[in-house]
Amino acid sequence: MSVELKIEAARAALTLVRDGMRLGIGTGSTADEFIRLLADKVKDGLQITGVPTSIKTKNLCEELGIPLSTLEVMPELDLVIDGADEVDAEFQLIKGGGGALLREKIVAHASKAMAVIADESKLVDTLGAFPLPIEVNKFGLAATHTAISTVASKLGLSGEISLRGGEVSPFETDGGHLILDASFGHIPDASALSKELLEIPGVVEHGLFLGYAKVVFLASPDGVKQLGHL
Ligand code: A5P
Repeated sequence: MSVELKIEAARAALTLVRDGMRLGIGTGSTADEFIRLLADKVKDGLQITGVPTSIKTKNLCEELGIPLSTLEVMPELDLVIDGADEVDAEFQLIKGGGGALLREKIVAHASKAMAVIADESKLVDTLGAFPLPIEVNKFGLAATHTAISTVASKLGLSGEISLRGGEVSPFETDGGHLILDASFGHIPDASALSKELLEIPGVVEHGLFLGYAKVVFLASPDGVKQLGHL
């Protein structure tokens, strides 16, 4: 996805932002472009309070002068604007390519609505070509890995489930957890997989975002298409 398309998707989503909004701010390279455009608006007088979905986003917002708060002070938000790794026609998403899925989902859940910014290559018929990130507790990693494989087989899914970053220097999330990336190829029943994964105690959260996105801004060289509405 070219930077230009990321910027165009981000610019389109900015039209949803109103004075006084309590705004969840996403993570990733598309969200970074949104943050830069938002910062310009804030400099021009737009008044919003942001809640970042990762330490990286928090740092960028602070650097650019976007006023921030936390879910402790502001537990309910009007809107979250975030990127995605995959989107299907029902606005089901895979997220977590950047490793921020837990905070992203907590913020999305606290928000009245979610808008997704992406380019058209992220739109898929069936989720799963992008490896599904599953955030897991460090304790009992092998047991959790096995339990995920068992659930996958039960649902007719197969594919490698690999520790992000590898055994020697695993990627660690903002919450101090690990990520298993599951290359299922296709996930025909995302709801069933979501439910089964969340029954595994070692699974902290997974990157299937079901029922969150209300609007999707899809950028292509022909322009930005808005799917859905607030
Ligand atoms: C971060 O954890 C992810 O959920 C991102 O929102 C997602 O990976 C999209 O990132 P890009 O905008 O960099 O493609």
